[in-house]
Amino acid sequence: MTILKDYPLLRHNTFGIACEAERYAEYGSEEELRQLLAERPKRVLHIGGGSNLLFLKPRFEGLVLHSGIRTVELLSETEGEALVRVGGGYVWDDLVSLAISRGWHGLENLSLIPGEAGAAAVQNIGAYGREAGDFIEEVEGLSLETLQSRTFSRSECAYSYRSSLFKTPRERGRWAVIRVTFRLSKRFAPRLDHGGLQRELRLRGIAEASLTPEGLRSLVIEIRRSKLPDAAVTGNAGSFFKNPVVGRAQFERLRSEYPELPHYEAEEGRVKLPAAWLIEQCGWKGRALGKAAVHSRQALVLVNLGGATGEEVLALCRAVQADVSKRFGIALEPEVNIIA
Ligand code: EPU
Repeated sequence: MTILKDYPLLRHNTFGIACEAERYAEYGSEEELRQLLAERPKRVLHIGGGSNLLFLKPRFEGLVLHSGIRTVELLSETEGEALVRVGGGYVWDDLVSLAISRGWHGLENLSLIPGEAGAAAVQNIGAYGREAGDFIEEVEGLSLETLQSRTFSRSECAYSYRSSLFKTPRERGRWAVIRVTFRLSKRFAPRLDHGGLQRELRLRGIAEASLTPEGLRSLVIEIRRSKLPDAAVTGNAGSFFKNPVVGRAQFERLRSEYPELPHYEAEEGRVKLPAAWLIEQCGWKGRALGKAAVHSRQALVLVNLGGATGEEVLALCRAVQADVSKRFGIALEPEVNIIA
């Protein structure tokens, strides 16, 4: 294990923001992580694939950690299910692909989401009607403060839309995810009720009954590629904001003014609204502010037009938030982790 000094993080954040770490280390085992933390670094930031990060400053004064634990173990299996334990540093989409090839199902809708297994368990990544938390059995964590190991059961992880225990104000930034155990199905019973998937299946004349796991994966990959910018070409961190969830009364008020307002039923009678629609209505789709812009094909994605600073992206974020708040009375909450 090497500790790198004044290490550029450009390759470690898909937004493509220039930021260097005072120190950076990738650990290959829990023991190595313990050694790094035993030195009591003044500030610690644990990153995954860097696909949901916005660095505000050009330098991070402290230790940036990355997991190099990329193991996959089949813990047990029955006729119907497989329990699979995956290292926090395993690349998410490689896991989806591997799972399909081994006949472990459920993750197909989550194809091509950037990032790694550890961060997926923190963020509860989701797409096309599925979330990582739907499949997580337990999470093995190591406290970055006390160095204690702890296994969190599925219910302790408290998964909800783009959230988990690890994102609460109390626990945020306090845990390294060492390994995640997934409960996957050995029967392919795809979830295809998401409107976007339904539309594409209809357009292509694909009958649900004839869809294979590989076919579903290819379809999801195609949809994502058609909407979302390729971070290797245009820096971005996927959806910048969460889709807001509002109360029924507020929704009805909005709908009386905007009858075409798209919406989805959410938990407890609440209603989820597409932030992309709200942003587009405010005229931001495709618009730039400095070197940051709202993506022209998906208004929920902020992009780096080249050489943007974190502060420039934040200025765009604030301008979009202000307009959406003024017009709709809705406070958009960033989904991306902003590192001050
Ligand atoms: N829409 C617009 N303008 C746009 C784009 C979308 O008005 O420019 C409206 C349309 O009504 C569309 C609706 O927004 O039907 C939803 O759009 P889309 O299906 O593209 O999904 P999204 O709600 O914008 C969410 C996730 C994505 C995920 C997709 C598909 C969040 C924050 N984002 O986006 O996740 O891939 O659904 O399930 O929930 C990510 O988290 O980085 C991410 C890409």
